[in-house]
Amino acid sequence: MTANSLHARDIAYLVHQQTDIAAYQDTGGTLMARGEGVYVFDETGRRYLEAMAGLWCASLGFSEKRLADAAYKQLLELPYYHTFFAKGHLPSVDLAEKLVKLAPVPMSKVLFQCSGSEANDAAIKLVWYYHNAIGKPAKKKIIGRVRGYHGNTVASVSVSGQPHMVADFDLPLPGFLHTDNPNYYRFSHDGESEAEYSTRLADNLEQLILREGPDTIGAFFGEPVQGGGGAITPPDTYWEKIQAVLQKYDILFVADEVICGFGRTGAMWGSQTYDLKPDMISCAKALSAAYQPISALLINDKIHDAMLAESRKIGSFGHGFTYGAHPVACAVALETLAIYAERNIVEHVASVSPAFLSGLKALESHPLVGNARGVGLIAGVELMADKATRTPFDPAQKIGVLVQDKCQEAGLIVRAIGDRIAFTPPLIITEAQIADMLVMFRQGLDAAWAELQGTKAAAAE
Ligand SMILES: Cc1ncc(COP(=O)(O)O)c(C=O)c1O
Repeated sequence: MTANSLHARDIAYLVHQQTDIAAYQDTGGTLMARGEGVYVFDETGRRYLEAMAGLWCASLGFSEKRLADAAYKQLLELPYYHTFFAKGHLPSVDLAEKLVKLAPVPMSKVLFQCSGSEANDAAIKLVWYYHNAIGKPAKKKIIGRVRGYHGNTVASVSVSGQPHMVADFDLPLPGFLHTDNPNYYRFSHDGESEAEYSTRLADNLEQLILREGPDTIGAFFGEPVQGGGGAITPPDTYWEKIQAVLQKYDILFVADEVICGFGRTGAMWGSQTYDLKPDMISCAKALSAAYQPISALLINDKIHDAMLAESRKIGSFGHGFTYGAHPVACAVALETLAIYAERNIVEHVASVSPAFLSGLKALESHPLVGNARGVGLIAGVELMADKATRTPFDPAQKIGVLVQDKCQEAGLIVRAIGDRIAFTPPLIITEAQIADMLVMFRQGLDAAWAELQGTKAAAAE
């Protein structure tokens, strides 16, 4: 690395997010220069199939000109306006209407922010606001799940269940609780069926609520498919049983559709795939195919009626962001939704999903792979030290990172979440590209396995 090279300047000036920044000082990283369809190219021109769509978000790939044109057109027309103080602009109205009409359950209104974290942060504030409005000020605690992920603001990371994201930040905030992770393969007892596992998890949730006092629990946050936890699909009957507990104790349900929304699960919403009946829905990422930072929080009548009552009392709804409902982001989101409809993106996901899921499942024959499971175009592959006994690797071995790195050497970008490898390719991926993806994944697994065997042999000598 020469002193003034791109990589040297990167290390000198930029803090990389969610990165071991101490190691980065020595290793540096990969810097992308351009994109084309499902591929990205680094600054040396090397091509990678982006099987994570960036951060589960570039749903239309990396070169959709119509989205660039929509942004440019809006930039010329009205590059900025806000929705504060009884003002607004056209694209935000169109997008809000579209989202309410598209919602999987009856929804009343939409609030716009710039990120998934902010959408969930707003949802948390509204849980508190709502309970003040209806005269239940003690009902404020919020339940998330172990390894759930809802964002990185102070509140959204508190409802997330990611220990390394709260360590030494003096978080989570008080009043945030966590219930079990839904990973059946990893956490079920021997011989326990999926339905039995779900019953156990719903019972545990109920016990947690009873211990804390149902009158203190305001809301439960859940992703239909847990993303940052490792692309974990729920076991059979899980959501039915969890929702029954929430209804029994009058607890609001916030469905975090930031990853699942807009086709990822093979339906428009994860809530449709799993028959969820949330009071609020947060969405982002594929809302604009990630070409602009925008998120939406959909709220039902119950929440909105309470907001009206509070606004009458206080004289204002005292919440908002300068760039919430940014017109350029709204215009790009509108164009994204138009493309989804024109190109039947949801149907496309459903049609290529069997090749994607069965191809990954077939890799369960690989010595490193214990389990592969997913829905639509999202899947997690669990790497195991001993499949027969479901014994994981020692986390210190960082097998997930080894596989991730070997995949990248093979030209494939995947993400290691501990020892789970996550896949969420752009929704436009074709069957032929899925076949290539599977070949490269096998190459990555084989290379990691060979290295592991070499290390073992060397240790034995
Ligand atoms: C389910 C879920 N919710 C919220 C977020 C946070 O979104 P953002 O990074 O846009 O703040 C993410 C990000 O990955 C997510 O996966």
